[in-house]
Amino acid sequence: MGSIDAFGLDEPESRPVSVIVHAGDPVDPEDVHSAEAPPATCRGAMKPGPARTYETLQRSNVEHMNSGPARTNDTGEELYKKACATCHGANGRGAPAALLGFDIPLPDFTDCNFATREPDADWLAVAHQGGPVRGFAREMPAFGDALAQDELQKILDHIRTLCPNDAWPRGELNAPRPLVTEKAFPEDEAVWTTAIDIDAESAVIHEMLYEKRFGARNQFEVVVPFGFQEHKQGGQLGDVALGLKRVMLQSLSHGSILSLGGEVILPTGHKNTGIGKGLTRIEPFASFGQILPADAFVQFQGGFDIPLDRNAAMDEAFFRGVAGKSFTQGDWGRTWSPMLEVLGTRSLGSEGVLHWDIVPQAQISLNQRQHVMLNIGLRIPVNHYPAPQFIVYLLWEWFDGGFFEGW
Ligand code: HEC
Repeated sequence: MGSIDAFGLDEPESRPVSVIVHAGDPVDPEDVHSAEAPPATCRGAMKPGPARTYETLQRSNVEHMNSGPARTNDTGEELYKKACATCHGANGRGAPAALLGFDIPLPDFTDCNFATREPDADWLAVAHQGGPVRGFAREMPAFGDALAQDELQKILDHIRTLCPNDAWPRGELNAPRPLVTEKAFPEDEAVWTTAIDIDAESAVIHEMLYEKRFGARNQFEVVVPFGFQEHKQGGQLGDVALGLKRVMLQSLSHGSILSLGGEVILPTGHKNTGIGKGLTRIEPFASFGQILPADAFVQFQGGFDIPLDRNAAMDEAFFRGVAGKSFTQGDWGRTWSPMLEVLGTRSLGSEGVLHWDIVPQAQISLNQRQHVMLNIGLRIPVNHYPAPQFIVYLLWEWFDGGFFEGW
């Protein structure tokens, strides 16, 4: 008999389903208050009879914990049915609300649009530590003391089969976003980037970026730059851009993803404000991401900046590359991703010179859900002489929840 049976899911008469609360967790007065309907129980599997108090729940959990995770030879599907299906439903869509003792909506593991986004590492964190580790409800219990990590992994492998459509790129291929290079992975994100010239003028340029996925592999985006300069009145609009991107190739086993995209850049800015070029341009590009062992990654983007008015400016080619590695604070905590970005541009005229910049930077997850991130870096010209720029972005993956959720 496996450890899972201790949940009582197989034998609802003998033992109640209980959430595993860590022995050291302080008792939250709110929980004591809600002892009549303890958190993280599924009514369907609960023993009918006198309401159990929070203390009994706690005690049974502690007893359970002391027994430690016992191993089973169950398949991922069997383990899922015993440990997860009471709430998540045998089909992965969530048990009927009437059977659950709480009204928190359950995720639909068969919905590829939802289920493919998160990498296993994040789901493992939630299953091991419980919902709160990623800012989710405590009704999602912690299984770390009942199931070994490879058993949880087997369960996740089963959950992954519930979305049968492999056109959707998996979250594992979604490397951290650099400050300048456009990623290959399609996103539902809003990003506010601010660049400040480190010179006497200290011009400040902001850029609001909105990205929206559609279908399994496509993304639409709008970029609105605007800026302020110390000696000028008010703000000025830069060149607004509209873009599309599509994943062309992706392989989870190789850790690779390749996308093609293009932007139309509108002449809403003015050359003499220093924000934008004030020319209509098109910018075709290719982006490639490669996940490496030990949470390291490299990403590349290359493309052309082509003004429609052939006499107004030269075509330009650009190349961007970034290498980095993510570190997790503790086993399940905040993510830090230091990166080094290299940016090259070359005007395609006869006297074109290749200009290089390097951008050391670090991205940090700000909240537990890890859907609000900050990246801070310095853009340093290597072989030309504009002022270095301090660049920072605040990123919100809006699909994962409201900005203020999951802190
Ligand atoms: C007692 C009910 C219950 C059980 C049992 C349960 N879950 Fe959950 N789970 C939830 C609830 C409720 C949520 C949604 C939490 C929220 O949205 O705040 C959730 C959310 C999740 C998520 C988060 C998905 C996301 O949004 O990124 C994962 C992953 C998950 N559960 C995996 C599991 C696995 C694996 C098991 C079995 C080992 C399991 N759950 C067992 C109630 C449960």
